[in-house]
Amino acid sequence: MDLLIKNISSLVQAEAAPRKFVKGGDMSVVQIINDAFILVRKGVIHDFGKMTEISRTGPGTMDKPAKVIDAAGRFVFPSFCDPHTHLVYAGSRESEFADRIRGLSYLEIASRGGGILNSARRLHEAPEDELFIQAMKRIDEIIHQGTGAVEIKSGYGLSTLDEIKMLRVIKRIRENSHVGVKATFLGAHAVPVEFRDDRNRYIDMIINEMIPIVASEELAEFVDVFCDDGFFSVEETERILMAGLKYGLIPKIHANEMGFSGGIQTGVKYGALSVDHLEYTGDEEIEALLGSGTIPTLLPGAALFLGLPLSPARKMIDAGLPVALASDFNPGSSPTGNMKLIMSLGCILLKMLPEEALNAVTINAAAAMGISDTHGSVARGKVANLFITKPLPSLAYFPYAYGSDLIETVILKGKII
Ligand code: NIG
Ligand code: FE
Repeated sequence: MDLLIKNISSLVQAEAAPRKFVKGGDMSVVQIINDAFILVRKGVIHDFGKMTEISRTGPGTMDKPAKVIDAAGRFVFPSFCDPHTHLVYAGSRESEFADRIRGLSYLEIASRGGGILNSARRLHEAPEDELFIQAMKRIDEIIHQGTGAVEIKSGYGLSTLDEIKMLRVIKRIRENSHVGVKATFLGAHAVPVEFRDDRNRYIDMIINEMIPIVASEELAEFVDVFCDDGFFSVEETERILMAGLKYGLIPKIHANEMGFSGGIQTGVKYGALSVDHLEYTGDEEIEALLGSGTIPTLLPGAALFLGLPLSPARKMIDAGLPVALASDFNPGSSPTGNMKLIMSLGCILLKMLPEEALNAVTINAAAAMGISDTHGSVARGKVANLFITKPLPSLAYFPYAYGSDLIETVILKGKII
């Protein structure tokens, strides 16, 4: 059944000629059609334009019965893409939240066997079905918060069996929800306690045991390593990325959250689709990113939650880079997948303009998960993932009203959810 949305006050991120991503000065431009319509057919964006041009969709050309929505006073956005999450996890970690308020740091908690290892213990005990049920609740929540495609990582398994268990849950989410899902293998998220005295043995296990199974069962498209101070070194990261590449897994890595770890340069060297976090980014790192195909992906939710230094988004954009934003949805450093909030944090904390933040959560976020051909903007032939807002006075009002739920109707693959 066709879906026609008419009288749209502003149709946001409408592209006549779709782009892979936007960078530098172009990030401050968002194409908007005022007084617009959009026609969805078979789950795909079929046509859009000014209301004065709507006659070309005329009754004769539309499927009957067509569903018509009058969006007077409202904005229509392409759904958010969220290119970095860990939303498959068991339970929660609010006791560590309280420990940090009492003065412990994230690294101190991790070195005592908390943090990622705490989630790994909980995940080990949770049956696969229970993990799936918990994750689907989070998926439902982010769908209603405007997300239409999400990348999900493993990394709370830290054993072959449990990493595979997580990746199977991610596969089930892809098969059972309306949201687009990309899977990333993150066996190198932390070194399990029992391997602390012989970390190479764990890395060998990732390379010789986990990666071949992940690849042969087609459980992930990307390989990630937490390449950072206190986690995995550049040399260890290189070994893992090379093994992943041999099996066709594209790198997409955690870098420079805890220090100038060399992770950004390593990601660029191995053709990473994205390098993520980047709280510690200087001139050398920006130089490495310029001219690479690697998308710097910033996670202001984690920086806010952990009180980390802020990624220099302004410097990156002013240097001509593309920037994407992601939620990092996880129980330890960013327990939210609300991309509207992340967009606001991009503006408030990282000093991105509303238009820059919008590009960062749509087209550039799609690029950071390898789906900008089909997602991330309103363009003919792209998947009809859209949301209609409540009445809005302007685009900037959307991130400005940072605590308000302004999303009224969600449409995924052409269906009203
Ligand atoms: O992206 N930085 C590494 N991993 C996650 C945190 C995971 C956790 O604390 O559970 C992150 O912030
Ligand atoms: Fe992360």
